[in-house]
Parts: sequence; C-alpha cells; structure tokens
Amino acid sequence: MVSVTPSILVTSVLNPNMRVFDVAMRTEYGTSYNSYVVIGSEKIALIEAAHADFLDVYFAHLDEALEGRTPDYLVLNHTEPDHTGTVAALLERYPELKIVISRSGALFLKSIVNRDDLDCLIVSDGEVLDLGERSLQFICAPLLHWPDTMFTYCPEERTVFTCDFLGSHYCEPDTFDVKITYPAAYLSSAKHYFDSIMSPFSPAVRCGLDKVRALDVDYVCVSHGPILTRGCELERQIARYSKWATETGAGAGAGAGATGGSSCVPLRVPVFFCSAYGNTAALAEHIATGIRAALAGATVELYDLIEYDLAELRALMNASDAFALGTPTVNRDALGVVWELLAGIEGINFAKRPVAVFGSYGWSGEGVPHVVERLASMKAAVFEQQLRVKFVPTAADLAAAEDFGRQFAATITAAP
Ligand code: FEO
Repeated sequence: MVSVTPSILVTSVLNPNMRVFDVAMRTEYGTSYNSYVVIGSEKIALIEAAHADFLDVYFAHLDEALEGRTPDYLVLNHTEPDHTGTVAALLERYPELKIVISRSGALFLKSIVNRDDLDCLIVSDGEVLDLGERSLQFICAPLLHWPDTMFTYCPEERTVFTCDFLGSHYCEPDTFDVKITYPAAYLSSAKHYFDSIMSPFSPAVRCGLDKVRALDVDYVCVSHGPILTRGCELERQIARYSKWATETGAGAGAGAGATGGSSCVPLRVPVFFCSAYGNTAALAEHIATGIRAALAGATVELYDLIEYDLAELRALMNASDAFALGTPTVNRDALGVVWELLAGIEGINFAKRPVAVFGSYGWSGEGVPHVVERLASMKAAVFEQQLRVKFVPTAADLAAAEDFGRQFAATITAAP
C-alpha cells in the first residue's frame, strides 16, 4: 500500500492511456485520479473519490487501504465528475458515510448524483474536523477552478489536499514527484494543464498560492499527477504557478479598458485577420496603423490566422486588452479559422472586452455581422462601427480603415 505518511494512504487510480480529458483537453501523458484515506484514532476520512469508469480499481485500492474498516467521512474538495463519479456507489456501500463539502459543492453534488436527500456536512473556511489525533482544516479556495473548490489541510501530517490546484495530467507508475522519470514531459504537461484549466482564474490562482504558502506543509496531495513534496516539485510548482498566473489570463496585462498612460504595462491590442486575396489583410494593416497612432506605446501586432499556431492566438486573444478581427465572407459566413479562434474565448473573463470587426467581401458580406453576433453573445464590447469593403479596398477605403482604427482605439481607453 502506497502511503504519503503512516496516516495518509493513497487510493489513486492511474489512467496512462487517456489522450483527451473532458472532451476538450489533450493529455499526451495520461492522468491519474488521486484519492486518499486519512486515518485518525477515532475516525477515518476519504479525500476525493474517482472517475466512474474506474470504480472497480478504486474500490480495490480502497479495500486494501481500509483493511475491513468503515470510513466515516468523504471529503470532496471539488465536485467535478472525475472526482465524484464513484460517490453514488460509495454511498451504497457505506450508507452512513458523511459527505464533507463546501456549500456550493453540496448543491452541485446533489445534481450530479441526482439525490436531494444527500446528508452533507457543509463546512466553511477555517472549520476543523477532528478525526482523533489527526484533524482536517478546510480552506475555501473558490474558482480553482470551480466555485465549490476548497483545500483540506492536515496539520499533524504537514499535508494539504488541493484537488485540481497545482496538479498535472501526467501519469507515471510512481506516485511521487521525486521519482519522475521524464521531468521535461512533466513540466510541459503541468504548463498545458495550467493554461487549459487555471489560467482563466489567474487572480484566484494568486490568492490560492498565498493560502498554500501560509501553511506548514511537506506534501501537496493533488488530485491529478504526482504528489508534490518539499525539496522537490512542491516549491517549483508554486513558483511556476506564481509566474504563469502573472503572465497570462485575466489580470495579466493592463486590463481591458485600462488607459495606456495609467499603467506601466503596455496595452495589448492584436489585430487578427484571414485574407484570401490580400484585401482583408490590407484593411488590417491600416486599422493597426490607426490604433497605433491613437494609442502610443500600445503593442499592436498583426496576426494572419493561417500563419500562426491557433492555441497561441487564442491565448493572445484571451490575454489582450482589446482586439480587432477581420474576416472575408465565404458561403455567406465567416471563415472556419475565425470560428476556431472564437471557440477559444474564455467566457469567464471576456465580458466588456473591446473588439472591432472588419472584412472585405465579394457578394453579400455576412461574415462580419455573424462574427459581431457571436462576440455580442459573449458579452464583448463590440465596436458599434463595422468596416466592410466590397472586393479591393480603394485608397479612400484604406484611409477609412485607418480612421476606423483610431476611433476604435478611443473606445478602448474610454472603456470602464
Ligand atoms: Fe479534476 Fe476539475 O476536476
């Protein structure tokens, strides 16, 4: 039986072959669904459950850890189904099991297991559960990455359970970071995990890091990937998260609506476009010139959507203070690559983002209004003017594009 300390046993399930997580995230190195058992002198607590697809393996590990004992509590730091898929079966097996959970977590869980009669012990920030010689302290950590998230701290074992926070979709046979065989792969996986799951919540990440740093811990027991130990990845992962949460996601730049003159961080206003015959590209260049003229010091760069990695462009779009987007019209719609870019909008931080839309067209020109509709549905502050030019822009059209850029720039500095 693998253990973190003599009182904390590991009941994790390994899934090394998984290549897509939650239908959205590529996972080149698989993952693990980590769970734990904390043994007190009076009570036993399970920490997290597992994905429903691995019920048999999870129960086998649990049986080995419990050696015939009955658990008293199930602590759920976060209720996403990769950690709660076995809860219904656990309750069938242990009808007296008390679920320990945050208030919002309890609401989610009732809808996940479809049981209104769930008997939950709802805990608040700072509350302590005594297991006898071992205790569990609950630390609210909302938006890491759901509203329900909390950490659970066992001071006697100098261990904190952080669920998804500080984790990685990375699977090796050994449970601990000290035995990682391919550190470069682990690092790449941890970064991809942060970008995909945590970066939209960068302010909450910074807050969560402060909460972990305030604890006296030798182990961070995450719910995916290797357990972090002091002297190995624990400090390094905290330092990485700190850096990444400052560089990317919400709050990384001057902020939407900030003025160039009031921040030492230059405004980032990328101009994205795709262009079959150079017409939308020409508009993009002149719009960028107009934005630059109006926003001295701003970073205004052109990005042809078919020349760059889409993931990088999505990250740039989400970290921008504002952006312009140009599309031609094909088959009465915007181009597929434009929709692919917009599919990467992090809706949680997108509201009020200033965006301008433009494009050249040949017949009817629906591409621009369709993109405007999509952006408005995501609550962007869509620039009221749309620049549409039939076929090849004239010198007057290009001058109008420059003016369009200047006027759009004015809305960025004026935004609340
Ligand atoms: Fe690993 Fe957000 O669940």
